[in-house]
Amino acid sequence: MMRAAISMMRRELVGLESVLMREIDALASQIHEASHREQLSAQALTDSNALAQVLELTESGRRAIQAIHTTVERGFLATRVSLEQMPHVLSEYQQIRHRLAPDQIALPGLGGWAVTVPVVSAIAGRLLLDDRPLTVLELGSGASTFWTALAISRSGRGRCVSLDHIAEFAQKTRDMLRANGVADHADVLYSPLVAQEVNGSTYEYYDLSVLPDDLAIDVLIIDGPPGIPNANTRYPAIPLLYDRLQPGALIVVDDTIRADERKAMASWQGQFPDIVWEADLGKATLLRRG
Ligand SMILES: C[S@@+](CC[C@H](N)C(=O)[O-])C[C@H]1O[C@@H](n2cnc3c(N)ncnc32)[C@H](O)[C@@H]1O
Repeated sequence: MMRAAISMMRRELVGLESVLMREIDALASQIHEASHREQLSAQALTDSNALAQVLELTESGRRAIQAIHTTVERGFLATRVSLEQMPHVLSEYQQIRHRLAPDQIALPGLGGWAVTVPVVSAIAGRLLLDDRPLTVLELGSGASTFWTALAISRSGRGRCVSLDHIAEFAQKTRDMLRANGVADHADVLYSPLVAQEVNGSTYEYYDLSVLPDDLAIDVLIIDGPPGIPNANTRYPAIPLLYDRLQPGALIVVDDTIRADERKAMASWQGQFPDIVWEADLGKATLLRRG
């Protein structure tokens, strides 16, 4: 049913797009006709500043519609892919619930602002499989902190430290952990964003002085600070934390469907050749320090 609705929306948008294109074309020919009526020569037409500006506007309108078309097509494709993956994600969710929280009825939701099911599944898988106590550092607290703390409580070893740059959100996450009985397995630390220089540029980034000195990271979750387009807000994570990453550490980078996060990943891999791609996790990517 959803697939049919998407196809219908797509047809309607394509229809609207051709109406707009036709109107722009009609406008352009009206301008040409008007200029002929005024008996302007082709040269005068080009020289006429006002006319050239109007023609440029119709052309940029045409380009804008083409750009909208590309974006909408990409959106449709992403929606179709998500729909096709839904049964798989649902069954993955059921498996995690069964493994981690078989008796709990209400659990903090995943997706939206929070990380998604494949991310939780990858983190829990690593925490449950390894027989060493593992340390998770999370940048950006929330539902993911709960699921990580739950996996740690089920494995009976390890710890999670989660940073949040908003004191109120840090407290919300602590309250949620306590309400769900896993507060002993994660420390949520308030870490305001402070101006820091990284490789010659200044970023507003977590104050990492709040971290315990002995923190050696086995799993790093990069889901903050919130992305600001073109500000590359999450790039400092690896340059600032690389020395604390254990060999074999997993790095979960959320939101790699965004250009900034993909750019940050490419920079890290250029600077640190032992950081390698491990898996795609829906809207996130899993890297590993080799
Ligand atoms: C992408 S969120 C982190 C989400 C978290 N890792 C999770 O999976 O739930 C990044 C930051 O946004 C803030 N935040 C969390 N939930 C939010 C919400 N519902 N609305 C606005 N900001 C939120 C918090 O300060 C958080 O550290």
